[in-house]
Amino acid sequence: MKQTLLAIGCLLVTGNAAATSAGEYMARASDCVACHTAEGGQPMAGGKKFSTPVGDIYATNITPDKSSGIGNYRYEDFEKAVRHGVAKDGHALYPAMPYPSYARMSDKDIHALYDYFMHEVPASPEKNKENDIPLLLSARWPLHVWNWLFVDEVKPETPVIKDDNHKELLSRGAYLVEGPGHCGACHTPRGVTMQEKGYDASSDVYLSGATIDGWYAPSLRNISMSQDELKDLLRMGRSQHNAISGPMSEVVTQSTQYLTESDLNAISFYLLSFNRKATAPVSPDGSIVYKPTDGKTLYSMYCSTCHGDDGKGKDFTVPSLANNSLITAKDPSSLISVIYHGAETPQTQGNISFKMPAYKEVMSDDELTNVVNYVRGNWGNGAPQATKGDIKKVSGAEK
Ligand code: HEC
Ligand code: HEC
Ligand code: HEC
Repeated sequence: MKQTLLAIGCLLVTGNAAATSAGEYMARASDCVACHTAEGGQPMAGGKKFSTPVGDIYATNITPDKSSGIGNYRYEDFEKAVRHGVAKDGHALYPAMPYPSYARMSDKDIHALYDYFMHEVPASPEKNKENDIPLLLSARWPLHVWNWLFVDEVKPETPVIKDDNHKELLSRGAYLVEGPGHCGACHTPRGVTMQEKGYDASSDVYLSGATIDGWYAPSLRNISMSQDELKDLLRMGRSQHNAISGPMSEVVTQSTQYLTESDLNAISFYLLSFNRKATAPVSPDGSIVYKPTDGKTLYSMYCSTCHGDDGKGKDFTVPSLANNSLITAKDPSSLISVIYHGAETPQTQGNISFKMPAYKEVMSDDELTNVVNYVRGNWGNGAPQATKGDIKKVSGAEK
């Protein structure tokens, strides 16, 4: 009996997200395994082939094995390879390795990655494969020129849109997409020398769509999905209306499914800001003015997937918002709390529980006011309008 309990205890520990180290999490977010693992091979032991216009190259063994892998890399060597595309012996790496994106990663995250590779990844003696690039082209020195041209100019972050209410969320989203996530490696068109035509939101072609290996990675600048659908897609590879296929399946399988709820929020918020940029008013000095989104749009972005356009919900799983006493109550506090903090139905025998997400991280107080009033004013609810002061009572109670 004791033993069974122990075994269950172990399962709980290994199944717990808290057991993932910061470095393992970053390795997931950066999807190192996708390229550094051959089909059926040991993770990170290399051997996966990349066809380039000049010939085939192979990703290398980056396990901590001292002779075949990177076991002899000091932190400085590792940092130079991952952020600057230069191997320990000084040769320039082919840009199939997305170091121009990793160049944006913080010192803290690179340190965490290094610790993970040195101490947690199992070593493999797998030898590296020779690249099949014709001798004339295999001289790696032109790559130094490439490096010099494209890598060293990591610009400070340029926000997609000025939005003081969501600064942190936007900035975390930009970091994950432009840095570790290297989403532009497939979604941004490439120029003649194979460089991506833009590496961040300051470029108008960044994430504007590209063809890779016979697949088209569509533009991520005009995604027509709600934020919740987008999150579902990145978490599960499918959503109510879409499903993922091809190379993007691998991204979901190896990387985005492991991201925390708050990081998925940040990524999807960042991506959807490109839409807001396209429709936002521009101030006289040329900067884009943030305008709180109206209640109807917010409802269709965040709520209608579950509660329906008609507010009727789904029997037994999602409550109807029409004629609902929590919504029509004179005091809007409970309604605001549900939206702000989220809710969960009780788990009872034979019934799994359903969750209502929390929106405190994604909506500003103005937007919360708008969506609350949209819900209070529709489907025959006819409840008095809530004010920003009512929202502050709920959001302020936390601080
Ligand atoms: C899109 C594919 C891709 C991804 C993602 C990727 N790599 Fe690479 N990486 C490569 C390729 C290909 C090479 C070999 C390049 C060459 O030989 O010039 C390489 C080379 C390296 C090297 C040099 C190794 C050596 O043998 O000298 C290191 C270190 C490295 N990668 C670490 C990482 C880490 C850490 C991550 C995740 C943060 C990562 N890579 C993600 C494709 C990738
Ligand atoms: C290895 C290449 C590759 C990388 C890296 C990649 N994608 Fe994709 N992505 C694709 C391809 C190809 C498609 C089209 C296939 C599909 O929609 O199923 C796609 C589709 C998508 C879609 C669906 C778009 C739509 O309108 O249906 C989203 C959203 C998306 N990618 C987001 C991301 C994000 C976020 C990242 C970075 C974390 C990322 N992708 C990294 C190749 C890639
Ligand atoms: C992922 C599905 C989902 C999404 C998206 C969602 N909800 Fe919910 N909502 C639920 C579920 C499930 C409940 C029941 C939870 C409970 O009350 O315990 C619920 C409960 C509610 C309630 C309380 C109803 C009652 O009778 O107690 C309100 C009000 C509400 N949601 C409004 C919204 C609004 C507004 C949005 C968008 C900002 C939204 N919901 C987004 C699933 C969702």
